[in-house]
Amino acid sequence: MRKPVIAGNWKMYKLVADSVAMALNLRPLVANANHCEVIIAPVFTALKTVADRLEGSNIKIAGQDCSVETQHGAHTGEVAADMLRDAGASHVIVGHSERRQFYFETDTFVNRKTQAALAANLTPIVCVGETLAQREAGHPESVVRGQLEGGLRGLTASDLDRIIVAYEPIWAIGTGLTATPEQAQEMHAFIRRVFAERASNGQAGALRILYGGSVKPDNIAGLMKQPDVDGALVGGASLEAETFAQLVNYNR
Ligand code: 13P
Repeated sequence: MRKPVIAGNWKMYKLVADSVAMALNLRPLVANANHCEVIIAPVFTALKTVADRLEGSNIKIAGQDCSVETQHGAHTGEVAADMLRDAGASHVIVGHSERRQFYFETDTFVNRKTQAALAANLTPIVCVGETLAQREAGHPESVVRGQLEGGLRGLTASDLDRIIVAYEPIWAIGTGLTATPEQAQEMHAFIRRVFAERASNGQAGALRILYGGSVKPDNIAGLMKQPDVDGALVGGASLEAETFAQLVNYNR
């Protein structure tokens, strides 16, 4: 049985005080959510304070990105994976489409970040997903295959046990256009098949694949009913405690 994951990516939103307030509001609303893992990803500047305030809760913390570098050194502006771990994170998002699109991250970069995260004992949430043009050109699978193969290159069998994949079609992010449950299911099943080429069938069966892109309280149930949708990576609807709690409690 794959334990679902509901993760909130706060992107570049919230000052420290707002982040703490949101986290403290969320805490009691999801305290009984044993059916899934609950993760939030605040901005770097708020991460440690939020993690400290959530100690003892069932809410885990993710970084939104990490450096490819594992050795501390002269890398201005970078945050190493072990620094995230030190600040209280257990997970880190890597290869988000906004980083690929706006900060020119390649699959090689995403691969190095995935390896850096694993080396620091963080669970990487590796993001993949096609643009609208790529979908309309009829080859979203080949795009996602390339991102997966590139992102996971060189990972050992035990590494593959420790990652989460998020499918986030770029045309669905922040647009209000959600993939239909059927579109999500089709791509998630494809991702599991591609993963199985690299890993054992058992490992592929255990891989959690999250869907991201305009997930809202009124569409999450349909997505979560799909056999290969194991959770959600949520942007906009994760910024407010009651709404995110409704997503976490999608099964109620
Ligand atoms: P939205 O839920 O705002 O579409 O964002 C999705 C996302 O990018 C999560 O990482």
